[in-house]
Amino acid sequence: MLKNVMLKGVVSGVALTLAVALIGAYSLVQSGLIPANADAKPGRLETWMARTSLNATLRRDAPKGQNPVALNEQNLLNGVHLYAQNCAVCHGSARGDASSSPIAKGLYPEPPQLATEGVEDDPEGASFWRIKHGVRLTGMPSFGNSLSDQQIWTLALFLKHMDKLPPTVQQTWEQVQNWPVIEAGG
Ligand code: HEC
Repeated sequence: MLKNVMLKGVVSGVALTLAVALIGAYSLVQSGLIPANADAKPGRLETWMARTSLNATLRRDAPKGQNPVALNEQNLLNGVHLYAQNCAVCHGSARGDASSSPIAKGLYPEPPQLATEGVEDDPEGASFWRIKHGVRLTGMPSFGNSLSDQQIWTLALFLKHMDKLPPTVQQTWEQVQNWPVIEAGG
């Protein structure tokens, strides 16, 4: 009997605490005190949460095997063209940080200018996953609906070798303009 009464007390205590926490969270969201602007840098807690969750997802879901697209000049060149068409506006040209576009400067978080802050050290499967699925709550779009897996692997190949391209491919890469977007040779 006594036990029952105590149990009831504990249960209603927990329920009350939960209700207060929910009302508190709801009021906070409604109050406008949680920033919704994009002209700021993400805070530490936000960055930690987003990174940890993304890295855990990549560990679980990103393909582990080798890039099925062979490393050769033609494929790297194809990668430059795909990058110019789909990515340069946000991730920049061969000039990297020196030429980031107005769109890149205004995003929250800002997309890395890949010629400066590249992903050559990342496994190609991780780049494949990011390009195919995008990154939630950032400007990074998912290209799974617009590019084939073959094209996405071609992009991953280019990103992996961006800092050590053969001279002819490097030349084409240096012609890519990210703002206004001008395709290499066109
Ligand atoms: C509209 C802007 C936008 C476009 C277009 C875009 N991205 Fe991104 N991308 C982002 C943002 C923002 C991030 C940072 C996401 C984050 O903080 O995790 C990002 C992250 C990445 C990363 C991870 C970088 C790192 O340092 O870990 C890779 C790789 C990448 N994008 C590749 C691409 C490729 C390849 C394309 C073209 C097919 C592309 N992105 C198109 C905005 C964009």
